[in-house]
Amino acid sequence: MSLEDQLAAQRHRAYALRSPEEREVRAAAVTAVADARVAERAVHEGDQMPQFRLEAADGVAVDTVELLRHGPLVISFYRGGWCPYCNIELRSLQRMLPDIQALGASLIAISPEVPDRTALAVKDNALTFPVLVDKGNVVARQFRLTHQIDPRVVSYQLGNGNDVAAYNGMDIAEVPLPATYVVSPDRLVRYSFVNADYTKRADPEAIVGVLRDLAAGLDVQPGAFAEATVGTRQAAFSSEQITAEVLAALSSSGGTRAGEILAAVIRHAHDLAREIRLQPRELLAAADFLRRCGEISNEARHELILLADVLGLTMVVDTEAADVAGGALESSVLGPFYREGAPWEPSGANISRGTDDGEPARIHGRVLSASGTPVSGAVLDVWGTNRHGLYENVDPSQPDYNLRGRFLSGPDGSYDLWTVKPVSYPVPSDGPVGELLTVTGRHNMRPAHVHVIASAAGYQSIVTELFTDDDPYLGSDAVFGVKPSLVVRYSRVDEPEALAAAGRSGPYWDLEYDFILTPGQASPTGFSTGRRPAA
Ligand code: BEZ
Ligand code: FE
Repeated sequence: MSLEDQLAAQRHRAYALRSPEEREVRAAAVTAVADARVAERAVHEGDQMPQFRLEAADGVAVDTVELLRHGPLVISFYRGGWCPYCNIELRSLQRMLPDIQALGASLIAISPEVPDRTALAVKDNALTFPVLVDKGNVVARQFRLTHQIDPRVVSYQLGNGNDVAAYNGMDIAEVPLPATYVVSPDRLVRYSFVNADYTKRADPEAIVGVLRDLAAGLDVQPGAFAEATVGTRQAAFSSEQITAEVLAALSSSGGTRAGEILAAVIRHAHDLAREIRLQPRELLAAADFLRRCGEISNEARHELILLADVLGLTMVVDTEAADVAGGALESSVLGPFYREGAPWEPSGANISRGTDDGEPARIHGRVLSASGTPVSGAVLDVWGTNRHGLYENVDPSQPDYNLRGRFLSGPDGSYDLWTVKPVSYPVPSDGPVGELLTVTGRHNMRPAHVHVIASAAGYQSIVTELFTDDDPYLGSDAVFGVKPSLVVRYSRVDEPEALAAAGRSGPYWDLEYDFILTPGQASPTGFSTGRRPAA
C-alpha cells in the first residue's frame, strides 16, 4: 500500500472513532494552524538550511555539517511516537532507506520527544536511521515549524492517554509541523514539504526523485538550472525542481510585496497541482472558466469578485485584515454591485425613488466612537435592492441610483434615512460562478441585508452589511458574509399615533442601529461598478 493510501486509511479510522464534536474541534484546529501560516513561514526550498547538532536517544550525536560532507540529507520532522501518521511515515522512510542510501544521501528524523519516548518510536517502528531528540523544539524553531496544539485537542489526546507536553518534557504541548526536507551538500533546501494538516506527508517518490536528480548532477540553483534546461536533459526533472526554478526566477522582485505575493501564489498553486494531481485537461478547464468569468463581466457585473465571494476568499481576507475594537462595527463583503457617487441626501431623506421598491423602512441611530462619543460628519454610504432582489445598476427599469444614498451624521452623531426592508435574493447564477455553485450542490441565496460603508476622518472605513434577523438564509449565506454582530431586527410600526408622529400614512419597518467606529485611518473603497445601459 502506498504511503498516501496508508495515511488515508488512518484518516478514515480516526474519523470513524470520533464524535461529530471532536471531528469539528480537530478540523478547526488544523484550520487555525493553516490560518496562522506556520507552513508558509517555515524554511522552504530555495532557503539555506540551518545547521544543527542533535543527539539520538542513545546519546550519539549527529552533526549536519558532517552529514552534508558526504552527500545530500533527507530530514523528517515528526510530532512524536504518539501520532499514528508519524509512525506510518517513519516506517515508510525506513522502507525508502536503501534507495536514499543508494543515491548517496543520509536520512535523519527529528522530534521533540524525550530520549525514552524516542527510543520507543525507534523500537516500535524498527528504525535503523538516526532518530534525534530536539529537546524544547530548539531546531524545529530554527526551521520555523513549531506551533502549540489547540488546548481542546490536547484534552482529547489526554483522554486517549497521550500527554504530549510530558512526552516532550515541556510545560506546553508544542510540536513541529511534520516536515520533510531534502538538502544538497551546499546546504540549499532542494525540496520541502510542510503542510498545516498533520495527516499529510511528503510523497516518497518526490523525495527520491529530487535525490535522483541531485545524483545525476542536475542543479536547481538559479544560474545552473538555466544551463541544465538548455543542455540535453539527463534525467527527468521533478516538479519540485520546476517550482524552485520558478521561484528563483522571481528573485529580482525580492523584498517587494508583489514579489512576496507572487512567490506564495506559485508555491501554493504548484503544491495544489501536486496534492490533487491536477491533470492537463483540468488546468485548461480552469483557464477556460476564468476566461468565461472575464467574458461575462462588464461595467455593472464583476464575475471574479463574485467568484472570490462564493469561494469564501473575500471573507477570509476580510477577517484576516480586520482590526476593529471589540464591540465595534465589523466588516463584511462589498459585493459586486457597489456604485460610487451615490447622491448626498439630507437626514430623514428617502432613497426609495422607484414606484414599487418594497416595504418602507426607516433606519436611524447614531455614529459613535467606542467610548460612546458622537462622531459628527461621518459618511454612511447605503445601498440595497428593491423587493425583487435587484440593484438599480443591473435593472434599467429602476431610476438611476435608486436605493442608494450618502448621509452625513449630525453634531450628536445621529443619522436617519428611509429605504425599503431588505429581501433575500440570489447572487447571479447565469454565469460560470453559477455553474460552480450547481456542481458543488450549493444554493445561490443571500440573506436579506442592507449595505453600508461607514467612514469618518480619524476612523477606519468599514464596508459592511446589516442582516435581517428572521431571514431563512442567515445560516447559509452564499458568500459567507454574516457575522453575529451584524444581525439586526426591524420592528413593524403600525399604530396610528406612531404613524402620525412619523408623518406616514401606512405601516413601515423601523431599525435603530448605532455604528461604532474604530480609530484609524479612513480608506477609499477602491472598487465601483457602473450602470448597465437599457437594452
Ligand atoms: C451583494 O450583496 O450585493 C453581493 C455580495 C456578494 C456577491 C454577490 C452579491
Ligand atoms: Fe447585496
